[in-house]
Amino acid sequence: MIVVGAKGFAKEVLEILHKNGETLDLCFYDDVTENVPEKLFDLFHIYTNESQVKKHFKEKSNAFIIGIGNPSLRKKMYEKFMSLGGKPYTIISSKAEVGSFDNEIGYGVIITSGCVLTNSIKIDNGVLINLNTTIGHDVTIGKFVELCPNVNISGNCRIHNNVFIGTSAVVLPGLTIGENSIVAAGSVVTKDVPSNVMVAGIPAIIKKELFL
Ligand SMILES: CC(C)(COP(=O)(O)OP(=O)(O)OC[C@H]1O[C@@H](n2cnc3c(N)ncnc32)[C@H](O)[C@@H]1OP(=O)(O)O)[C@@H](O)C(=O)NCCC(=O)NCCS
Repeated sequence: MIVVGAKGFAKEVLEILHKNGETLDLCFYDDVTENVPEKLFDLFHIYTNESQVKKHFKEKSNAFIIGIGNPSLRKKMYEKFMSLGGKPYTIISSKAEVGSFDNEIGYGVIITSGCVLTNSIKIDNGVLINLNTTIGHDVTIGKFVELCPNVNISGNCRIHNNVFIGTSAVVLPGLTIGENSIVAAGSVVTKDVPSNVMVAGIPAIIKKELFL
């Protein structure tokens, strides 16, 4: 397996894989940092180019995980690793609680420790659900969404593709957050949020439009 990224969140992904006993042939990938060390924690090789990735996919396993937070970067690297022949791998921390009924979790999803997901939840590909986040019943989460630590998504919400929800934000029941929008840390969302805007505050209001 290859974790894309070798710093920050990628190191947190390693903790989940280690606790789950999934570190066989584990390597990391970083083609942006200068002077990347050969190994992470003196144990795991860090690849720096595509030919190393292709070789790994061919000779070991083609599973990959995006160890990067930001939704647009997650999408970009997900697509790049798919084009190299990779298969996105979903990891769920053994310390997360995922309900047993009517949940659908896509490819390349990461659910970290302390998260609680109830049931009838649909999570699309490439989503990141970070520490201690909770998701109520009948929620859909679109592709590459990032839910930061301690986010609370109430029941019956629709969170569309590429949305970023900052640490400790709350989304009240039945609301929709439009594609590409950003909810600032600590906000309480009390009404629907359109696409391509940044909202912040309690109650959350539109602070700016995002021109993507
Ligand atoms: C939403 C966020 C990305 C906005 O960053 P930005 O585009 O640089 O926004 P700005 O700093 O230009 O702020 C724009 C406005 O929003 C307000 N604002 C920004 N973040 C806010 C917050 N968390 N709560 C309340 N208001 C906020 C600013 O005060 C400013 O208001 P004003 O126009 O009335 O003066 C950033 O503030 C944030 O919350 N990031 C979350 C980080 C996080 O949770 N990381 C976890 C990683 S695991």
